[in-house]
Parts: sequence; structure tokens; C-alpha cells
Amino acid sequence: MRGKLVVGNWKMNGGLRPNDALLAELRAGWAEPADRQLAICVPHPYLWQAQAALSGSAIAWGAQDVSEYASGAHTGEVSAAMVAEFGCRYALVGHSERRARGEDDAVVALKAAAALGAGLTPVVCVGETLAEREAGSTDAVVLRQFDAVAARLGDRVSAIVIAYEPVWAIGTGRTASPSQAQTVHRLLRERLGRGAGAGVPLLYGGSVKSDNAKALFACPDIDGALVGGASLKADEFLAIARA
Ligand code: 13P
Repeated sequence: MRGKLVVGNWKMNGGLRPNDALLAELRAGWAEPADRQLAICVPHPYLWQAQAALSGSAIAWGAQDVSEYASGAHTGEVSAAMVAEFGCRYALVGHSERRARGEDDAVVALKAAAALGAGLTPVVCVGETLAEREAGSTDAVVLRQFDAVAARLGDRVSAIVIAYEPVWAIGTGRTASPSQAQTVHRLLRERLGRGAGAGVPLLYGGSVKSDNAKALFACPDIDGALVGGASLKADEFLAIARA
């Protein structure tokens, strides 16, 4: 059975002092059963802080991006092996905010492979823009983004997590309805098939809050959430994870 997973994405937020308070509140507030996993993805400079604050707890941590390269002359890039040294379990790859800056499907696939190669679980983000939805190309876009990763990983696709994040629902307060989200999750579930991909968790992301999480999690193909803004408040994030 696929476990439940809620991942927070702090995006470019935080600071040493507020992080200390948030991490301590999360640690104190979370001791849930093993069938339910909680994780946060923090900016690279705070990975050591997440590691120090959360080691030995039931909360995992991860990075928001990794380089597609292993090492070398790539100024400003951070490799998957480097973030793995800070005890990360997860790395987001292909977030729409990075795709919008020019990351294409091929690069996202390389990043997913780099993360796996370093022992991380890539959380591969897929999702359509509003214009793509209105043009009726949601399915084609999401499957194209997924297929690029699946083609590169082969059987290793079984080791990833997928997050469906419709771009129009991110940071807008406009959540996809449970049925809109379920429709895309079902499509991805069918694409993953009954073989190696059957156990891949499918998360929904985009304006998830404690008051809409329950209805989303009740959908048969939604295994959890990737949470942006609401992951910056311990009470709200923990309430989502418990929903
Ligand atoms: P919000 O939850 O702030 O809409 O962000 C979603 C997201 O982009 C998570 O990766």
C-alpha cells in the first residue's frame, strides 16, 4: 500500500532565528505513525539547520533543487551528493517556479536521475499553466513532463515521488477542486501502471490548506500534498499533515 506523505516547500523563505522556532515547533508537534510521513524542503543554506533540529525525529528534510551535474565548473549550482551530505531524504525537481526560469523536461529528468544517484528520493513536480488548461492540453502537458522522467529512469521510476501542481493553483488561493486533482492523479496512476510504478506516491500541490486538505486526501489517487505557503506556519502545516 502507498504511504501518505506531506512535504513542505519553504521556497525562498526563512532565516536562522525564525527557522529555529519553526523547526522546534514541528519537532515537538509531530509523532505520527509510520504510515504517514512528514518532510520539509528548505533553502540550501539551511539544510544543516534542518538536520541539526530534526535528526532523530519523525520528520525528514530535503532540498528544493539539485544540479543535473555531478561536479565541476557550474558556478552557483549545488549537486545532489552535496545535499545528501546533510542527511536529506528528498529533493524537489522540476518545480514550476524553476521550469518558468527555463528548466526543460530533459533537464528535469537529469536532475531526477542525479538525485536518485545520490540516494535521494526525487519529488518530481509536474503541472499545467492556466493557458494550457484552457487550451485543453492539461493531460498532454502532464504526461509529457512525466514521460521525460520515466524514459530516463526506466525501472528506477518506482523510487520517485510525483507532485501534481497545477501552476494556476500555486500561491493563488485557487485550489484545484478534488475532482480536478483526482482526474489528473488517475491519469498519472494509469501511466505508472501496475508494475514498478504502482507504489509511487502522488502528491497534490497548489494552495493546500488545513481546510481543504481533507477533501483532497479523500480522493483515491491522492497520497498527500506538497505545501508551499502553509508550510511556513507550524500549526497549519501540522493540521494539514493530520487531515
Ligand atoms: P502554495 O501552497 O503556496 O500554493 O505553493 C504550492 C507549491 O508550489 C509547493 O511546491
